[in-house]
Amino acid sequence: MGTSNGSPADTAFVGCGNLGMAILSRAVCAGVLVPAQTVVVEHDAGRRAEAAAMGVHATAEGSAARGARTLVLAVKPQHFEDAARAIGPLTDATCVISVMAGWSSAAIRAALGNGPRVLRAMPNTPAQVGMAMTALARGAGATADDLAHATRLFAAVGSTCEIREDQIDAAVAAVGSAPAYLFLLAEAQIAAAARMGIDPETARRMTVQTMLGAATLMAADERTPQELRAAVTSAGGTTAAAVRVLEAHGFTGAVGEAMDAARARSAELGR
Ligand SMILES: NC(=O)c1ccc[n+]([C@@H]2O[C@H](COP(=O)([O-])OP(=O)(O)OC[C@H]3O[C@@H](n4cnc5c(N)ncnc54)[C@H](OP(=O)(O)O)[C@@H]3O)[C@@H](O)[C@H]2O)c1
Repeated sequence: MGTSNGSPADTAFVGCGNLGMAILSRAVCAGVLVPAQTVVVEHDAGRRAEAAAMGVHATAEGSAARGARTLVLAVKPQHFEDAARAIGPLTDATCVISVMAGWSSAAIRAALGNGPRVLRAMPNTPAQVGMAMTALARGAGATADDLAHATRLFAAVGSTCEIREDQIDAAVAAVGSAPAYLFLLAEAQIAAAARMGIDPETARRMTVQTMLGAATLMAADERTPQELRAAVTSAGGTTAAAVRVLEAHGFTGAVGEAMDAARARSAELGR
């Protein structure tokens, strides 16, 4: 059980794939996690080796997560029941931080013996480059200290905000799924620039740097996105011509409906 010397871990990761590994590696680098007090429970041998290379005790045995002060649950939702059986019942000494879509804190707590406190996190893939947005929701039994601890952990992969658990499906739409909307916009811009004769690599650089620049400007400037847009849109100009076409195709409405669809699908998958 626990770390390599047998004592309970301070933090256990159950599932250490794309997201778990991003959190683990960045939190270790930031000094938020101490490798010798951290355990990784992971099926995949390659990922266990990657975690072990950081000085973390990595094992395939779910029971190693038992007794941890914090348990980061980062398996796919469909693998949670198996993982819960392998971990076994937990007490209220453990705070579970789940990044899984779909599983409510009450259902997670019930599957883990009704003992642990549970907090939910909805991050997104820019975690891999330390630029995630993570919405955190206190669930079953979670305290203000648990939220503060989760905030420190997820700050290692980006920025955080607090929401209520009944808003988590909205956070799936606004955070978890949202990078894909920008990727889709980027695909369309790159294809259009290429169609206009710009070579694909230059079209990609133009699009990516423009998105990065616009996002950085939004983050740094106190003006609203609407004000920033107005500032680059002169009457009768080129930007106005482009925005008019986007709106004629229902751009704003389509984004709203897309987010409604993501939220509804998240609610449908929930338990
Ligand atoms: N990626 C994101 O941006 C994002 C955003 C929000 C939420 N999430 C949530 O985060 C969770 C993880 O996503 P991910 O993209 O990191 O998935 P992933 O790369 O598939 O990572 C999950 C890892 O857990 C392992 N695993 C499965 N069952 C296990 C068990 N019982 N014990 C130990 N390890 C087990 C898997 O191994 P095998 O592959 O060998 O099964 C895999 O290495 C999902 O629930 C997802 O909904 C992800």
